[in-house]
Amino acid sequence: MNFQKNLQLKSFAEYKKAYQESIKDPETFWDSVADTFYWHKKWDKTLEWDFSTPEVKWFQGGKLNITENCLDRHLDTLGNKTAIIWEPNDPDEESRHITYRQLFVKVSHFANVLKNNGIKKGDRVCLYMPMIPELAIAMLACARIGAVHSIVFAGFSSTAIASRINDSNCKMLITANEVYRGTKKVNLKTICDEALQNTPSIETVIVYRRTVEPTPMTAGRDVFWFDELQKATKECPAEVMDAEDMLFILYTSGSTGKPKGMVHTTGGYMVGTTFTFQNVFQMDPDDIYWCTADIGWITGHSYIIYGPLAAGATTVMFEGVPSYPDYGRFWEICDKLNVTHFYTAPTAIRALAKQPLELVHQHNLTSLKVLGSVGEPINEEAWHWYNDNIGKSNCPIVDTWWQTETGGIMISPIAGITPTRPTFATLPLPGVQPILMDEKGNELELKAEKAEGRLAIKFPWPSMARTIYGNHERYKDVYFSAYPNKYFTGDGAYRDATGNYRITGRVDDVVIVSGHNLGTAPIENAINEHEAIVESAVVGFPHDIKGNALYAYVTLYNGISPNDTLTKEIKELVSKSIGAIAKPDKIQFVSGLPKTRSGKIMRRILRKIASKDVSNLGDTSTLLNPEIINKIISNSL
Ligand code: PRX
Repeated sequence: MNFQKNLQLKSFAEYKKAYQESIKDPETFWDSVADTFYWHKKWDKTLEWDFSTPEVKWFQGGKLNITENCLDRHLDTLGNKTAIIWEPNDPDEESRHITYRQLFVKVSHFANVLKNNGIKKGDRVCLYMPMIPELAIAMLACARIGAVHSIVFAGFSSTAIASRINDSNCKMLITANEVYRGTKKVNLKTICDEALQNTPSIETVIVYRRTVEPTPMTAGRDVFWFDELQKATKECPAEVMDAEDMLFILYTSGSTGKPKGMVHTTGGYMVGTTFTFQNVFQMDPDDIYWCTADIGWITGHSYIIYGPLAAGATTVMFEGVPSYPDYGRFWEICDKLNVTHFYTAPTAIRALAKQPLELVHQHNLTSLKVLGSVGEPINEEAWHWYNDNIGKSNCPIVDTWWQTETGGIMISPIAGITPTRPTFATLPLPGVQPILMDEKGNELELKAEKAEGRLAIKFPWPSMARTIYGNHERYKDVYFSAYPNKYFTGDGAYRDATGNYRITGRVDDVVIVSGHNLGTAPIENAINEHEAIVESAVVGFPHDIKGNALYAYVTLYNGISPNDTLTKEIKELVSKSIGAIAKPDKIQFVSGLPKTRSGKIMRRILRKIASKDVSNLGDTSTLLNPEIINKIISNSL
């Protein structure tokens, strides 16, 4: 076979049939999908599950390695096909085109570097890397030898890296000396060195030199990527993994407490991400696919690396930012590389829509066939701008709803096959059984009428996260306790009479800022570290470009007056503890926070004030200190 197109549904009727079959007999449906991959040994049992414990196992007894499915099995027919096109930050630096065969060799070679440095199956390896091919190589090399990668987005702070490394006891850290981001150069190694002061489990640090600047190295711990390659052999047979062996950990914010290390396993994740990639995007053999996400997020894991490579596609990796050297960069790259499938986030679309249209029109976008959106609800205006100016009303827009926890796309149009509708993620993909719950915890039946409620999923799907690393109880609490025997997404949704879903946003204390999930509790904890601060409450408010931005209400100790230095210090504390992405846009100093009699902060009211929606604040009579509200409103920013 020249290209793994065998999973693609080809008509709306085929979708409907497949969907029905996948609900009636999920095991037979997923068996037939899983059969199209390369397994060392076929599974004995397709699915075992119990959402009350919660336990989910797919393809038990199956033996495989995901890298053999992403690389080895393509070599005969696609060996010379480009697997990855890398586009550097600087448009004058040359792109890199890496074929499947070259990628196979590089991954095997680096896998031996990992082994030489003591990494074995099951060990955790933290990756803190820029968007360069070596990030893809390092993650695949981990998977090749059965090590578990934990990728930390290279915008996070040293404190955030250290807490993630310690949570899963990573043995190794892989990083780069520096990274280019637009006009800026960020020294990743220095950030890592700060983190490494508090990470006793790390034995080795491998450093890739992205720039020629001198790099401080700690003897006995730090080694250079290239030096290690010289010492390693090039062939590395794949470790044979159980379908339910851990593939990776990826941290995501929770509404309370520290980040959750979502655990994804090998077989189900591979089957789920590849099936969804094939169907949602409907690629042809010569197509060029570009997802603009960072590999540090789940979108990059599933739809820059694993899904596209398992499908034998050509996937683009971009190192830079949409604004450099100007706001036409995305369109310039689409033109230059003849991108056919372009997948980005609403926040990027909104930022680009604010720029002169000339920056779009300068570039030839006729290669585009399919556009995608992910990460947050796409508003009507952004949808139309994207459709009119980028797709020229000729490219279906796949608005893909999913989460770090779901591993792969859950609700989305299938490009050119199922209908699209502005702001709607539309219909569930085969195998996905979404439901809406009302406030009392009852399921809102799918009748011929509209419904609005909380989105839950009532049946397992192969790519779902299996647990939170080291804390199964929390996994159960967060996802499986709101509604018995159902997975709760944390999102609200609306469903029309024909079963199309529109995701309305988070219903918990997670705020999505520029497509990044941010729990408000860790931000408050960071702010509260300031010695002048008694307490704080952080909420989201609508923002033109970011979708949501953060608003912090802060109370100070008696005798301390608000001032600009304090504002600056608060932002620095948040930046240091989490990263610049979590800095509040607005900080209001208040004399008190509205609280219930039991002492709980009434965030609902603070959200309304931050959103300038104060006409109906609901019942405030039960507050301990109702008089505070008018004061907060009159000083609001
Ligand atoms: O609120 C939903 C929103 O992003 C959340 C998941 O964030 P994360 O785990 O970081 O994964 C993002 C990439 C998959 C969801 O709970 N979300 C994601 N996609 C959409 C969306 N909201 C509306 N429409 C979408 N297409």
